[in-house]
Amino acid sequence: MYVCLCKGVTDRKICQVVSDGARSWREVRQQTGCATQCGKCACQAKAITRQAIKDTIVADTANLAYAV
Ligand code: FES
Repeated sequence: MYVCLCKGVTDRKICQVVSDGARSWREVRQQTGCATQCGKCACQAKAITRQAIKDTIVADTANLAYAV
């Protein structure tokens, strides 16, 4: 789903950027350009970013638990 129409950023793209290592809204914004034009998408994009970071941390923690 498109989150940012101005820059053509989807929720998948945000999740991909987080999966590739971004760990803050600032990093996601810098890498995607999301919310850098009209800014109407910022609230939803931040919420998606927060959830993606949370999911990534939970998955990393689970992987660590299996590795021990
Ligand atoms: Fe994202 Fe305009 S919709 S900057």
